[in-house]
Amino acid sequence: MAFSSPSLCSVAILTLSCILLLLMGRSDAQLSTNFYSKTCPNVYATIKSQVQSAINKEARMGASLLRLFFHDCFVNGCDGSILLDDTSTFTGEKTAAPNQNSVRGFDVVDNIKSAVENVCPGVVSCADLLAITARDSVVILGGPSWNVKLGRRDARTASRAAANNGIPPPTSNLNNLISFFQNVGLSTRDMVALSGSHTIGQARCTNFRARIYNETNLDPSFAQTRKANCPRTAGSGDNNLAPLDLQTPTAFDNNYHKNLLQNRGLLHSDQQLFNGGSTDSLVRTYASSPSTFSSDFTAAMIKMGDIKPLTGSNGEIRKNCRKIN
Ligand code: HEM
Ligand SMILES: *[C@@H]1O[C@H](CO)[C@@H](O)[C@H](O)[C@H]1NC(C)=O
Repeated sequence: MAFSSPSLCSVAILTLSCILLLLMGRSDAQLSTNFYSKTCPNVYATIKSQVQSAINKEARMGASLLRLFFHDCFVNGCDGSILLDDTSTFTGEKTAAPNQNSVRGFDVVDNIKSAVENVCPGVVSCADLLAITARDSVVILGGPSWNVKLGRRDARTASRAAANNGIPPPTSNLNNLISFFQNVGLSTRDMVALSGSHTIGQARCTNFRARIYNETNLDPSFAQTRKANCPRTAGSGDNNLAPLDLQTPTAFDNNYHKNLLQNRGLLHSDQQLFNGGSTDSLVRTYASSPSTFSSDFTAAMIKMGDIKPLTGSNGEIRKNCRKIN
């Protein structure tokens, strides 16, 4: 806010405005969908074209970008902490167990950030960039759209321990999954809807080996297909990839939930959502009603994006998503 002519503003009004601004900065300011409408109206078009070209190059990238937002939000809130590189004096989240050799897309995020900095330098946070990027990825892959709430600022810290403890592992059972989401204020319904993200993307053999060789709640022909590229012996073929949704791994649809009905969940944690427990009926609902899945998924994405954002004068607008200013 600029007071171009002090003569027009009494000192009293100036002082009041300053106090108001300070209060706004300190109270838990809300995110809003029009946060950049004045300061960076082109942010959406700029990000979307970058996401589109990244997905044109590699369809899987849409999945990887969506996952980055999830792994950011579940660790001390949606604050861009996952993007910080390790240095000799700083340990970030990239080497946490759920992330190492697994999360990807950081170069694409760099490209998006440069493009955004070109149109509005120093305005858009890396945390908001991830939120918009996740939405655009889902839309480009054929999924539902939603209005992204914005106004997050970037963390000046990160926590490997919080990433290790806060992101659910694929060995989780249903109760574990429910509590991981509950810990960040998300309901069981949110959890089942958000898990529908596994309708896109890939997983490494090391994360589903025990399931395909040792579990009985899976379709035998599905297990056989997956064994072909995931050797039984630990350490061999650990990084071999398989699609989380065997039919359409680059289309955002409700096949994830349909697969669960046929015991074709790739991860142990996936099949937990349809294994005779309390979430079976919701999985059936999403499998039979794409529109219910879409509306619950978008609502849950907005809720996830609301986890503990830094706002007002907290945090910073990083210039480079990989390091604090
Ligand atoms: C419910 C608990 C969840 C567990 C246990 C879980 C676990 C995993 C695992 C183990 C992988 C494969 C990683 C690898 O093998 O390198 C994966 C991939 C993925 N996850 Fe999840 N996830 C969960 C929820 C979510 C949520 C809520 C989202 C998004 C909102 C999400 C989005 C993705 C995507 C898109 C991929 C594929 C990434 C790629 O291909 O690069 N997941 N997840
Ligand atoms: C299957 O279970 C057995 C017994 O618990 C275990 O020794 C073996 O390592 C498991 N195999 C895989 C591939 O996880």
